[in-house]
Amino acid sequence: MRGIFVSGTDTGVGKTVVATGLIRMLRRLGSRVGALKPVETGVEIDGTGPADWRLLAEAAGIGCPREWVAPCVFPDPLAPLEAARRSHTAISIGSLDQAIQRFDAFDWVVVEGAGGLAVPITESLDMAGLAVRWNLPVLIVARPGLGTINHSLLSITYARSRGLEVVGVVLCHTVAAPDDVSAQTNPSLIQELSGVPVLGIIPYRPAAMTARAAELVVTEGLSVEKLLLRYRQLVNAWAAPLSSSGSER
Ligand SMILES: Nc1ncnc2c1ncn2[C@@H]1O[C@H](COP(=O)(O)OP(=O)(O)OP(=O)(O)O)[C@@H](O)[C@H]1O
Ligand SMILES: [Mg+2]
Repeated sequence: MRGIFVSGTDTGVGKTVVATGLIRMLRRLGSRVGALKPVETGVEIDGTGPADWRLLAEAAGIGCPREWVAPCVFPDPLAPLEAARRSHTAISIGSLDQAIQRFDAFDWVVVEGAGGLAVPITESLDMAGLAVRWNLPVLIVARPGLGTINHSLLSITYARSRGLEVVGVVLCHTVAAPDDVSAQTNPSLIQELSGVPVLGIIPYRPAAMTARAAELVVTEGLSVEKLLLRYRQLVNAWAAPLSSSGSER
């Protein structure tokens, strides 16, 4: 199984839309693709209501129970560590490991983090630590406009400081905004200063976000072939086994 960890510079930057589109694009290439949102907060425990995992599951088309795609959900819209504390529990890393192992027989697993890479899951593990633990390179989704240079470079620097490979940056227009000078110049500046390619710029398309709609909009701005080329360059062993004993932060 190959995997990719879709993270972002912030919450609400387009991770779910990009991950959903990517899942569908990989499936179109003939791959069996698993989807995992290891921890999701701000969702109904009974599985009703809008949730990232629902879109991811729809994209993967695997018709599996919620626990497969979102093994750990909390009602409070908070960082996982705090959401768990408020639910008087702690997140079991072992159960997250079991969740990704369910997709061992798949060709790919696309994992969507919560918030950004430094978001805490437990006192000793953050999102970057989970990507390290699972030996997954990261794709960073970021805003296109003013402010994204700082957020993107900080995220890339943090990922690298944790030993993670960064596949690329994807800039996603989640809101209608004029394509100003910063949005025009940010992609090349991010590439120049970080050495990480900006693999895609997803246009703003106000549609009800179904898996199909996400696929269409992501396809407009991201070439899956380009992403896979970069992935191959980074990940020498295509079927690198997922580690269940990686380091924690
Ligand atoms: N290209 C787009 N065009 C229009 N709306 C978009 C686009 N991309 C994302 N959105 C919308 O922007 C909002 C945030 O996107 P999304 O849920 O993918 O972000 P996220 O990073 O996954 O957020 P979270 O941190 O909550 O997981 C959603 O309402 C989504 O439908
Ligand atoms: Mg999301």
